[in-house]
Amino acid sequence: MSDVAKLTMPDGKEITLPAYTGTEQEKCLDISALRKETGYVTFDPGFGNTCPSKSSITFLNGEAGILRYRGYSIEDLCEKSDFTSVMYLVIYGELPSEAELAEFNKNLAEHSKIKPQLLKLYESLPQDTHPMVLVSTMLAGLSAHYPQFTNPHDTDQVEQAIFIALGQILPIVSSAYCHGKGKEFNYPSEPISSYGSGLLKMMFGDDYEVDTDVEKILDELLILHADHEFNCSTSTARIVGSSQANLFASLSASVNALWGPLHGGANQKVIEMLEDIANDGGVEAIDKYLAMAKDKTSGFRLMGFGHRVYKNYDPRAKIIKKTCDKVIEKLGVEDPLLAVAQKLEAAALSDEYFTSRKLYPNVDFYSGIVYRALNIPTEMYTPLFALGRLCGWIAHWREQNLDPHARIGRPRQLYMGATERSL
Ligand code: SDX
Repeated sequence: MSDVAKLTMPDGKEITLPAYTGTEQEKCLDISALRKETGYVTFDPGFGNTCPSKSSITFLNGEAGILRYRGYSIEDLCEKSDFTSVMYLVIYGELPSEAELAEFNKNLAEHSKIKPQLLKLYESLPQDTHPMVLVSTMLAGLSAHYPQFTNPHDTDQVEQAIFIALGQILPIVSSAYCHGKGKEFNYPSEPISSYGSGLLKMMFGDDYEVDTDVEKILDELLILHADHEFNCSTSTARIVGSSQANLFASLSASVNALWGPLHGGANQKVIEMLEDIANDGGVEAIDKYLAMAKDKTSGFRLMGFGHRVYKNYDPRAKIIKKTCDKVIEKLGVEDPLLAVAQKLEAAALSDEYFTSRKLYPNVDFYSGIVYRALNIPTEMYTPLFALGRLCGWIAHWREQNLDPHARIGRPRQLYMGATERSL
């Protein structure tokens, strides 16, 4: 097979475009000289056919429903690893040895307290502020409180910034919950055994008894959210970092991108949608909502369904769906929304509109059901997505920051506005 593509331009000029093959046999054409050689740029709304750079962090195959972090499948990592080790793997490329994990945990623990003056930021924000505003504000605030760790060209500063961001994202997310409940935020009196356990204790109080099965379920959810190659919020981390903005500023921007209802904000919207259906007749109303989802003029979308890359069942949704059953059985909770979700999924997957467009449940469809079973409020679902995804954003920012060929991200446009005119 040739490693070039030949392109004949409208004016008859012929050019060749180098073709690359990735380690998983994905193919791409290098168009980086296209404008210089032909005056043309490419048109690709939503960048569905465009790779801004090479990466070695996460591989996903949307047709086959495969997701691997640094070569390890999510199924394997959920079964045999833990979230802190997966954070290390995603960022540094290998699973940590026992000694490396102990050192990593020590570094995170040493940076796990938010400066009291930074916590005062909450006092300026209304109690009903959405926690994603608080999380992005606090991450941006780290730039103010740790200016000595904001030079992206200094690898020691970057490493310290990584420990601070990873160490403080847990108290930031938990204190955002407490702010919303108008309750005092307190750190656990004992060292935490996992991010999931720390989250529940910092949200619900130090005396909260964390069930080990629940701790494992939360750890698994965080692993499943850890990275997902060049999604919207990760691409945000990369493009903000490409201007040589510091890590904290780039992570704050990623939180804001994740918040959108088409992206990470969907997990909250799924529960709100299921509640609307439940309050509107439950399973009897499903056909009505499916019809709305198919009616472009309705403005309604089936939240938690569809994906830019997965044209098969999202492998994360498969695992989370099983987790739903586990946690509901474990906690003995009856959640009417689960029955609605299951019936809605079954109805959609037997409906030609959805199957012809390869619209399947994605990571957000069932995750909220698990959080509900743990009495976590819906406005906290997207912050929990950010808690899991922070390591992925860091990994991509760091990979680009270490790349000597990285350039500032600056797409072109096809100008359709007014031509020159005089006043
Ligand atoms: C995440 O990219 C990632 O990796 C993201 C993520 C990650 O881990 O980072 O996986 C996390 O963001 C998951 C997605 C969460 N969002 C939702 O659940 C919101 C609902 N889904 C969508 O709005 C939509 O499916 C997107 C945003 C996820 C994908 O949008 P695309 O790729 O731009 O697809 P599209 O809008 O072009 O849709 C293609 C067709 C259209 O119909 P036609 O024009 O062909 O007639 O499918 C239809 C759409 O109208 N469609 C839907 C639909 N999703 C797509 N119709 C009804 N309900 C839906 N949910």
